[in-house]
Amino acid sequence: MAGLEPYLRQPWRMVHGVPMVNAFALNWERIDNFQSRPEDIVVVTFPKSGTTWVTEIVDMILQGGNPEKCKRDIISNRVPMLEFAAQGDMPAGTDLLANMPSPRVVKTHLPAHILPKSFWENRCKMIYVGRNAKDVAVSFYHFDLMNKFEPDPGTWAQYLEEFMAGRVAYGSWYDHVKEYWKRRKDHPILYLFYEDLKEDLRREVAKVAQFLGQELSEAALDAVTRHTSFEAMRDNPTTNYSMVPSQFMDHSISPFMRKGTTGDWKNHFTVAQSERFDQDYAQKMLGTDLHFRTQI
Ligand code: A3P
Repeated sequence: MAGLEPYLRQPWRMVHGVPMVNAFALNWERIDNFQSRPEDIVVVTFPKSGTTWVTEIVDMILQGGNPEKCKRDIISNRVPMLEFAAQGDMPAGTDLLANMPSPRVVKTHLPAHILPKSFWENRCKMIYVGRNAKDVAVSFYHFDLMNKFEPDPGTWAQYLEEFMAGRVAYGSWYDHVKEYWKRRKDHPILYLFYEDLKEDLRREVAKVAQFLGQELSEAALDAVTRHTSFEAMRDNPTTNYSMVPSQFMDHSISPFMRKGTTGDWKNHFTVAQSERFDQDYAQKMLGTDLHFRTQI
């Protein structure tokens, strides 16, 4: 883990017009030129939308519902993050992926227009996970407090303004969710919602299995559902990021598995913030038929 200090708490670097985590932004050709394989499965999200949750669900499905097989390694090695890079001892996502057998599950937060072309050309299956913007903003704020690869988020009030303006890692939440919503019309994209997963996890797991062409027994479906509950994933060292050194992720500030609920925004937004956010939201989401639930 040596040599990472220069990348901690650094401001963004722009990549193709998108604010990118400083440490990831160097040598971006490795992303632009990334070669997918047709059988790759891409889990793509705006950060804090349930990425870890759905990647664990996908790995569990591919392992036939056997939780022991999923404990073979930490989630970030089983499902590498495409754009992850740090110049120290930690391997880049592209290096991990190059050495993986197929079918690879690829995690990424890249907006559709900067996702490597090869994924589109090979018509790789994609699973998109969206979560309502207010809960994402709250979750992202707490994540930026504990994750030193991100810039210091400042106060909640300051951070909320940055979020609304798209001045956070990966840019505008609004554009991100809308872009993939549009692309699903001509590409195999299963568009999931965090709120639906909260509402009926088993139903959503079955949807993912069907999309991946995996037939699971009822018992296997039950096993995936049990193993991917919030409590199970929070207490599982291969999914809760407790293995990351506290120098990079300080769970004593805010745990990665923080609350895992829908509607926590109500504990953080003031009435005035909520009204202002809703007004701005209506403008930015004008004309789309994409709808999110802020409570269930
Ligand atoms: P909160 O901060 O609201 O608790 P990502 O994996 O995209 O970074 O998203 C992290 C968010 O998903 C966190 O939200 C985390 O608690 C939540 N999460 C992770 N696993 C979950 C699960 N099994 N059930 C519900 N929420 C989960």
